[in-house]
Amino acid sequence: MAENNTTRRSFLKAGLTGAAATIATGAYAEGDPAITEIQPWMQELGEGVDARPYGTPSPFEKHVKRRNVEWLTADPVSSVNFTPLHELDGIITPNGLCFERHHAGIAEVDPAVHRLMINGLVEKELVFTMQDLMRFPRENRVYFLECAANTGMEWRGAQLNGCQFTHGMIHNVMYTGVPLRYILEAAGVKPNGKWILPEGADASGMTRSIPIEKALDDCMVAFKMNGEALRPEQGYPVRLVVPGWEGNMWVKWLRRIEVGDQPWHHREETSKYTDLFKDGRARRFTWEMDAKSVITNPSPQAPITHGKGHTVITGVAWSGRGTIPRVDVTIDGGKNWQKARISGPSFDKSMHRFYFEFDWDGRELLLQSRAHDSTGYVQPTKNELRKVRGENSIYHNNSIQTWYVNEKGVAENVEIS
Ligand code: MTE
Ligand code: CO
Repeated sequence: MAENNTTRRSFLKAGLTGAAATIATGAYAEGDPAITEIQPWMQELGEGVDARPYGTPSPFEKHVKRRNVEWLTADPVSSVNFTPLHELDGIITPNGLCFERHHAGIAEVDPAVHRLMINGLVEKELVFTMQDLMRFPRENRVYFLECAANTGMEWRGAQLNGCQFTHGMIHNVMYTGVPLRYILEAAGVKPNGKWILPEGADASGMTRSIPIEKALDDCMVAFKMNGEALRPEQGYPVRLVVPGWEGNMWVKWLRRIEVGDQPWHHREETSKYTDLFKDGRARRFTWEMDAKSVITNPSPQAPITHGKGHTVITGVAWSGRGTIPRVDVTIDGGKNWQKARISGPSFDKSMHRFYFEFDWDGRELLLQSRAHDSTGYVQPTKNELRKVRGENSIYHNNSIQTWYVNEKGVAENVEIS
């Protein structure tokens, strides 16, 4: 067995060296019309600068869109759609592709009549207009938002065929906003003020209890995403940002923050967003998102179409507890692991992008990625996670994902034991 592993390892090494040598893959094909013909777009003038006052992607990118799974939720206004992770690169999710999760549809809020109230255990109850909020010092920070239910359908077995559906309840955005601490300090939190309750202005009136330490640490009241106003889907004109913690707490269309001396035990933190163990006990207040990663290409929606030879594997990794200093990739279902290359900025509680290039010999692959975070925590296998947490939950599944790739390059969601 040990000998077998060594042979396999040295084979993989040889493969990698080969990859470096064959990076230049563009071969000249005699008479290729894409070279010899004059294309239509070279024969006429294009549209002028007045044609697209707010730009949209090329019509050739129409397939790049959020998608939902019809059987998953009863009604589109209390539903979810998914980020097309397999179509993206780098670390930033474009605004129009950020997954959406609404409990009562998209509230279309007029910023002129929107207010943010701070009440409860404060020295002075305050009400801010949007203009008032803009007069606090602003900060820019990049964070991922992951719904606690991301990958939730995969607990009991491989189910959804595509990383958009298995892992697409996440987006990674640069927020501009005011540290919540400044706003709470303006109101003056009383010594017995230990919790906050943010509330949304949508018809669901979403609320969650958040400990004051987190509120004063890195939470933000954000009004811009990736430089422009929040999209209505994401809580325009203002949302709460709760870095590294489950998406449900990031209240959209934020209208009120109450300060209290204990948690409120509302719906979203009792019957929902708790993990039911085998013995019937529940794990509650599971706020932090554990380190996780997924290979986005190749994957079921993004097969290998170029045949064997130089192949680029890429994916994303993140942790609610810090940065991702290391991601490992295996192409043989975990027999051999190799370090992936992380490229792009490594921000705290933000998505990281990794790459792994290799020479594919055309044989079947079992692809997996494994994230290590800055606390030393390592992403578990599915069975390791099940041992601790059972299979009742839909929340906080951060286990290692496996894609099977056949000789034709077609990928499928599978589980290996
Ligand atoms: N805030 C309000 N007011 N209403 C909602 O339905 N959904 C929550 C949270 N904040 C929700 C909300 C859930 S469950 C998640 S996962 C995130 O918003 C989703 O944020 P997004 O729509 O920007 O992806
Ligand atoms: Co959610």
